[in-house]
Amino acid sequence: MSEEEELDYSTAIQRAGKQLWRFPLVAVRGIPLMCHIANNFEDIWAFSPDPSDLLIATYPKAGTTWTQEIIDLLLHNGDAEACKRAPTPVRSPFLEIVSPKPIPSGLDLLKKMDPPRMIKTHLPFQLVPLGFWENKCKVIYVARNAKDNLVSYYHFDRMNQTQPEPGPWDSYIHKFMRGDVAWGSWYEHVKGYWAEREKKNILYLFYEDMKENPRQEVERIMRYLDLSICDEVISQIVDLTSFESMKENPMSNYSCVPPPAFDHSISPFMRKGEVGDWRNHFTPEQSKMFDEDYKEKMKDVDIPFRDLI
Ligand code: A3P
Repeated sequence: MSEEEELDYSTAIQRAGKQLWRFPLVAVRGIPLMCHIANNFEDIWAFSPDPSDLLIATYPKAGTTWTQEIIDLLLHNGDAEACKRAPTPVRSPFLEIVSPKPIPSGLDLLKKMDPPRMIKTHLPFQLVPLGFWENKCKVIYVARNAKDNLVSYYHFDRMNQTQPEPGPWDSYIHKFMRGDVAWGSWYEHVKGYWAEREKKNILYLFYEDMKENPRQEVERIMRYLDLSICDEVISQIVDLTSFESMKENPMSNYSCVPPPAFDHSISPFMRKGEVGDWRNHFTPEQSKMFDEDYKEKMKDVDIPFRDLI
């Protein structure tokens, strides 16, 4: 058995120790990605999923972990204990992640699992391995309004010691607007999947809808997955996937990623989980400037984003 297989995820991160630092971004077909991902992109691009695999695609901080937990519970008929078998990134591997050894890469974890697998990605549409489309895999995309997404990413970049320093808030806004952050432009990301959602049978969800009416969105996912689950179990899943429950659950709150990767004392992974927190960050001038630029960048599409509910 190799060293990686013996270690649990947290121990592997601690062992990686000083090899973990704020990795520079390297562009792959114009998309800035952490250097380890960029350097291994050929292997990621060659990944061949099983037709039964499910892809959960998001721009970072749009509600990925929340959706992963909902789906795992749906697939286990609401069995909370079954969904505590391992932390989120082990139950639902992160397709493109590559970190220094002995941390297993997403592909390492996937190799050890039998389909159907629940696979997470932040790759923009054009970088998703073609096998997902050729094999007609189910794909769930979750989008979050730009301002809350930006705020969440700012705090995440502060605590995640493996992504570039966010720098001061005011300049971070501009970095985000330029797409000068890991996984690139939010605008292009949300548009890329939106444009393909019908042709590729992508279920396109919004964080704000999940927050406003979690039951309705859990049922929407259930139907997309061709599952039929009784009302009582759906209620249970809604409770188990509330922000408060997931924050307390060590298998979903990312306490499995300790320092030196995530420093939860700077900002917890489960931070606020709200719609409209951007109002506590943007000044009226910043908001106006952001909105004007947003209008221009989003003028070619009509995606029904809401930044308040
Ligand atoms: P905030 O930083 O605004 O709190 P991802 O999983 O894509 O990295 O997204 C993380 C964001 O989703 C964080 O947002 C986190 O708090 C929020 N989140 C995680 N679980 C949630 C839940 N059950 N309900 C609402 N928001 C949740």
